[in-house]
Amino acid sequence: MIGESHGGLQSPLSEGKVRALGRRMRLGAGQRVLDVGAGTGALTVLFAKEFGCQIRAVESCAEFVAAGTERARRAGVEELVEYVTCDAAELALEAEAYDAALCIGAAWVLGGFVKTAEALRATVRPRACLPNVGLPGCDG
Ligand SMILES: C[S@@+](CC[C@H](N)C(=O)[O-])C[C@H]1O[C@@H](n2cnc3c(N)ncnc32)[C@H](O)[C@@H]1O
Repeated sequence: MIGESHGGLQSPLSEGKVRALGRRMRLGAGQRVLDVGAGTGALTVLFAKEFGCQIRAVESCAEFVAAGTERARRAGVEELVEYVTCDAAELALEAEAYDAALCIGAAWVLGGFVKTAEALRATVRPRACLPNVGLPGCDG
């Protein structure tokens, strides 16, 4: 079940799970994180606030980008969150540019789960964490 009422997350996660995920990813201040399919930014902003990492949030829906940008501003982390409005498939992903990359609830966006995982893998430094979670029936 996707419960947006729980802190605004648009995926089947709770804030507790997001915090646990961030700890597992060993996120920290100064790290660069890519969040593909960031939605309205509940996870993005929580990561920025809790761990102090810098997040590039990629989202194709302009309304969600506006909501996420406002969420970051209200949480006082607007300097840590950079939204990019585009189809993730149009992203030019540089090699080893990020300390971590995630794609939660949108694993199909770069051509299916495996291709998305491969693309994210190439854009993070070696041995970085890569949470990539899809939704049933959405793997293109
Ligand atoms: C299920 S929501 C998950 C949002 C967020 N990751 C979370 O956990 O709260 C999936 C998001 O992916 C976005 N999305 C879908 N296709 C996309 C694409 N091709 N490029 C970028 N974002 C996309 C949707 O607009 C939506 O905001």
